[in-house]
Amino acid sequence: MEIEPSNILPMFIEPPVDYIQPVFRPPSEGRSLILQVTNGCSWNKCTFCEMYTAPQKKFSTKAEDKVIEEIKRCGSQLPHTRRVFLGDGDAMVLSVRRLKTILEAIKQYLPSVTRVSAYCLPRNIKNKTEAELQELRELGLGLIYIGAESGDDEVLTKINKGETFETTKDSILKAKAAGIKVSVMVINGMGGKKFSKQHAINSAKLVNATQPEYLATLVLFDHSQEGKIEQGFDGDFVPLNTAELCEEMRSFIQHTKLDQSIFRSDHVSNHLILKGVLGKNKEEMLEDIDDAIAHFKAHPEIQHKPSSF
Ligand SMILES: C[S@@+](CC[C@H](N)C(=O)[O-])C[C@H]1O[C@@H](n2cnc3c(N)ncnc32)[C@H](O)[C@@H]1O
Ligand code: SF4
Repeated sequence: MEIEPSNILPMFIEPPVDYIQPVFRPPSEGRSLILQVTNGCSWNKCTFCEMYTAPQKKFSTKAEDKVIEEIKRCGSQLPHTRRVFLGDGDAMVLSVRRLKTILEAIKQYLPSVTRVSAYCLPRNIKNKTEAELQELRELGLGLIYIGAESGDDEVLTKINKGETFETTKDSILKAKAAGIKVSVMVINGMGGKKFSKQHAINSAKLVNATQPEYLATLVLFDHSQEGKIEQGFDGDFVPLNTAELCEEMRSFIQHTKLDQSIFRSDHVSNHLILKGVLGKNKEEMLEDIDDAIAHFKAHPEIQHKPSSF
């Protein structure tokens, strides 16, 4: 029997998006369509981050006509898509013109989409005006994920983030002023023992000054073979044990003065799962952390090894 094209099983249809693996996305984008509009990270120099260090992840942008072709294919194969995440590590590095073209194509070919989001470095925002960001917002860009990692300038220098408290603060406030929601990530344990206190307090100051809609903490996992984190701290980096990680979290949460930030520590790296709204649930969260500290102090044999992505 001759096979009609309409009899071909869906599995033989060309996949709508061409991915260069590995592909990462925040836990909250688990049900989103991931459109890989860039590959890798335009900075790729943070000492703790190995996400885009494989040779095939060297930073590049995907050709515009290819991106539009993929959006068209998603439109015909996944027409009910409601959320889109623009990959990779900082898709907001693309120019406003390119981002507008992508968002317009999503509107045209995937009309059920209600939110587009992306990872973003503070400097990706710095070079865009508030009016431009507003245009992107009007075209559907609803949320950006910014890895602040710390609000402490000493820690930020040692991890080679290429950002400061001020640059991160300014970008979050600019995005928010344009109507784009912001999710901020902070890394528990990023300062090691020596900088733990100031890392916690200054990270709280950063979120207090910016009031992000979403806030997440991840636990530092050191999977680098070359001791890159230690080198950044001139060899003076002592990782926190599990009870100390919880104590740092306590100090961070204690110093927050947030009106309405949805807080999550539910990433695969976390040993203490916390969920709630800060400040509404601050006292409950502090109680949960106190219980965890008491538990880990009573059982020093339990040492959490954070899993990587
Ligand atoms: C793709 S980046 C975030 C977006 C953007 N590239 C930035 O840095 O702002 C993903 C996030 O994963 C987290 N991350 C990466 N490596 C980590 C590690 N070794 N331990 C804990 N968190 C890590 C950081 O919070 C980082 O911001
Ligand atoms: S944390 Fe973000 S900016 Fe830093 S290297 Fe990783 S992906 Fe790039």
